[in-house]
Amino acid sequence: MSDVAVTAMAGKPAESEHEEIGRRDFFNAIAAGAFGIAGLGALVVTYRYLLPNALFEPSMNFRAGTPDLYPLDSVTYMPDQQVYIVRTGDGFYAVSAICTHLGCNTQWKPEASLIACPCHGSKFKSDGTKVEGPAPRSLPHFAITLTPDGELLVDKLEVIKAGQALRV
Ligand code: FES
Repeated sequence: MSDVAVTAMAGKPAESEHEEIGRRDFFNAIAAGAFGIAGLGALVVTYRYLLPNALFEPSMNFRAGTPDLYPLDSVTYMPDQQVYIVRTGDGFYAVSAICTHLGCNTQWKPEASLIACPCHGSKFKSDGTKVEGPAPRSLPHFAITLTPDGELLVDKLEVIKAGQALRV
């Protein structure tokens, strides 16, 4: 056998081995990618599992500022809370702005001294007492107190009887 033939025969297995290594690397890369994706998915699922499964709703208590912000005989709408802060000679009331008919947001009409519902025409006095319309009852009053540092504090979770004014 000539030297050329020996070189050719010796080169053939080496070329096949090179192809085999390439195929092995390819499958290793695919396996590593699949494990990586599965591991990432497991991390995401575990992270989501560890988070509390709760809705974070805004607090039902809110501070409405100091009493001197509200003039005597005023009705002040708090749009973020959907509550009226009403100040009369008797004191302060916190009156819901949600209509008791179908839950529309009412509006204070100073020219008529009434709280009016734009949906079906219910009307209420400034203290929430129903005057007319399809609303089945007056607007509820919420507990209103004074914080130690002198601010009005409204608790929308505590509905109180109408007429219980906070005297300051
Ligand atoms: S929702 Fe207010 S009157 Fe119907």
